[in-house]
Amino acid sequence: MIPYGFHDIGEDDIKAVVKTLQSGWITQGTKTGEFEEALADYCGASYAVVFSSGTAALHGAYAAAGLGSGDEFITTPMTFAATANAGVFLGANPVFADIESDTGNIDAAAAASLITNKTKLIAAVDYAGHPFDGKALFEASVKHGIIIVEDACHALGALSMADDGSWKRTGSCLYCHMAVFSFHPVKSITTGEGGAVLTNDKVLYDKLKMFGHHGITKSMDDFQYTPDGPWYYEMQTLGYNYRMTDFQAALGISQLKKLDRFIERRRDIACFYDNAFRGNRYFDIPIERDYAKSAYHLYPIRLKDEYKDYKRLIFSQLRERGIGVQCHYIPVTHHPFYRSRGYTAHCPNTDDFYSRQISIPIFPGMTDDNTHLVRDKLIEAFNGAK
Ligand SMILES: Cc1ncc(COP(=O)(O)O)c(C=O)c1O
Repeated sequence: MIPYGFHDIGEDDIKAVVKTLQSGWITQGTKTGEFEEALADYCGASYAVVFSSGTAALHGAYAAAGLGSGDEFITTPMTFAATANAGVFLGANPVFADIESDTGNIDAAAAASLITNKTKLIAAVDYAGHPFDGKALFEASVKHGIIIVEDACHALGALSMADDGSWKRTGSCLYCHMAVFSFHPVKSITTGEGGAVLTNDKVLYDKLKMFGHHGITKSMDDFQYTPDGPWYYEMQTLGYNYRMTDFQAALGISQLKKLDRFIERRRDIACFYDNAFRGNRYFDIPIERDYAKSAYHLYPIRLKDEYKDYKRLIFSQLRERGIGVQCHYIPVTHHPFYRSRGYTAHCPNTDDFYSRQISIPIFPGMTDDNTHLVRDKLIEAFNGAK
């Protein structure tokens, strides 16, 4: 089976992990700090804080934004459930905005129209690695004093164009207050499980740091009470143990050095698929807006009207033929947890997108033989569908 996504671990990564395992510091050593610096440097942000997963990182970002009980946050149903769940952890209520029918990203106008005086933040997902259209949403959010969290779990290594025409990396927080990454194995780089939040705001950074470390500070300057001994530290807020281990961070540092090559290969594969499938009669290929260069975490195809009723058949046939297709995503509002809380979908573009969407394999380790096989099996499955 050629999976839809797969990690790329080399000898260099293995050596880096082993070296850290043998160093005596497997957690709370220097590697997480080094990884944070490398991430912030790469993305062009002032600060990075690593977490034990992308979900933990989202939880931290929403908490740092002050999201709490009874607040509303606007997000998209076309995402992994964690984007919404992390706000529910804090007692807040998600409000779902519809998507653009081609990119699958949150529709900025739809999101802006849902802002009320209860809205605390907007969580915009860079679906499939394509940066969301941040400018309009960012301007609306600043006007209303709302925090934007970019769920960039798919988009490490993507680029967005700034007003002056220069390209900015996702994570530089061009159009958000915080950007969140995941390092799950199918993502741009991996640490096994892992995540990070990037920001340019020192106040948010300090909150993020404490949130993932039990709400504890060891910094004398920040103490609220006089230390009663050299062992002294303070737990000032309710926090979690969301730390990344040092051997995971060592893997992350090693992987980050190869990120550009990984993204280049992903973009080459996307280009191959674009050329192979452009203008075909069965499905639409992903688009890239002028302001964006996608990290191509996924290559989502959208079945045309005449073929969308064949989604189940095509999907099963491709799996039977060794092509590990996947569907991204079952809209969050379709899950029983959200249905039971009354979140019936009012997002026609999302439902339509779901009825057509299939992700075909794309990952840096794919060979040309693999991509040719995917092309041939895909066309074969559609040819035989009717
Ligand atoms: C858009 C999105 N947000 C959040 C997450 C959660 O990340 P993690 O699996 O690292 O907790 C994922 C992971 O699949 C994701 O795709």
